[in-house]
Amino acid sequence: SNKPIRVVITGAAGQIAYSLIHQIGNGDVFGKEQSIILHLLDITPVMGVLNGVVMEIQDMSLPLVKDVIPTDSEEVAFKDVDVALFVGAMPRKEGMERKDLLSANVKIFKSQGTALDKFAKKNVKVVVVGNPANTNCYILAHYAPSIPRENFTCLTRLDHNRAKAQLASRLKVSSSAIKNVIIWGNHSSTQFPDVRSATVSINGQETAVYDAIRDDQWLKNDFVSTVQKRGAAVIAARKLSSAMSAAKAICDHVRDWWYGTRENEWVSMGIISDGSYGIEKGLVFSYPVEIKNGQISIVQDLQMDDWAKGMIEKTQKELVEEKNDALKATNSE
Ligand code: NAI
Repeated sequence: SNKPIRVVITGAAGQIAYSLIHQIGNGDVFGKEQSIILHLLDITPVMGVLNGVVMEIQDMSLPLVKDVIPTDSEEVAFKDVDVALFVGAMPRKEGMERKDLLSANVKIFKSQGTALDKFAKKNVKVVVVGNPANTNCYILAHYAPSIPRENFTCLTRLDHNRAKAQLASRLKVSSSAIKNVIIWGNHSSTQFPDVRSATVSINGQETAVYDAIRDDQWLKNDFVSTVQKRGAAVIAARKLSSAMSAAKAICDHVRDWWYGTRENEWVSMGIISDGSYGIEKGLVFSYPVEIKNGQISIVQDLQMDDWAKGMIEKTQKELVEEKNDALKATNSE
């Protein structure tokens, strides 16, 4: 196959990476022709664990994987990478306040942003997964000024997929029949899962999800809160956060960026706002996007009622606060 691309995964000894690496190495994301060099970054204390992961990668015997580089060095990890998946982050620990969590993550993403800026290819495609994903992405971009703003994204595709799955289950259709749901805003419980423009295909006939479900109350209440709280529900059940579904969503996100989205079909991504829909410019905000030739563009001119505007306002407010707290933390370093 052709020249290998370099893909870095941070938090490579963790549980999302454990599901993610196989799919990337197997050609599920960049195609069966594209060979890959995997850069795996984690912290020094888990280098032994990471070595076990490397052994398993060898044992999968994947023809597309040309080399694996496990490391605890940011320089080695980010050197010449084409795609950077920021999965590792500081987890919230018992009794930790949001401010402490933010400042721990600011430290990590400041350091990694600086290294990315210095060592990665200038056209590197960035996806931040580690929470708080939007704000971590904001800080990363802030410290990597030589990389174009449109190359920074954060993951809200898992929320998007969860929304599709809830609608599909309610309508008793395959989730592939559901199109154009939107996740607006923060990857947090203030996110706004919006089905206003969503359609469902039933026997080849496209119908608005609103008309197919005919239950305004369910769509505005139970549906929204189920999607908003799905991550917490998985943690409560599994005692661990979503990993299999998160890894799958990362693959969907990156594959769509690499190959483009389908005609008249959009997906949700956290991107650096250009001010669309009245969102503060520069904020990392989840929008409905279409992708062509690697260019991400926001779907424009969607109509919104006052309820939807209120939902968007709420998640924006939370993101502005997070961003301001994060910036404060960078100053106090
Ligand atoms: P995990 O705890 O199993 O793995 C995280 C890994 O990151 C650990 O191996 C840890 O050593 C590593 N790490 C910590 N600091 C690091 C640093 N400075 N550099 C490199 N590696 C570092 O966690 P899991 O389940 O894999 O989740 C990872 C992150 O993804 C969490 O922050 C989680 O909240 C987030 N997440 C985000 C989702 C989204 O939709 N945006 C969905 C699910 C999880």
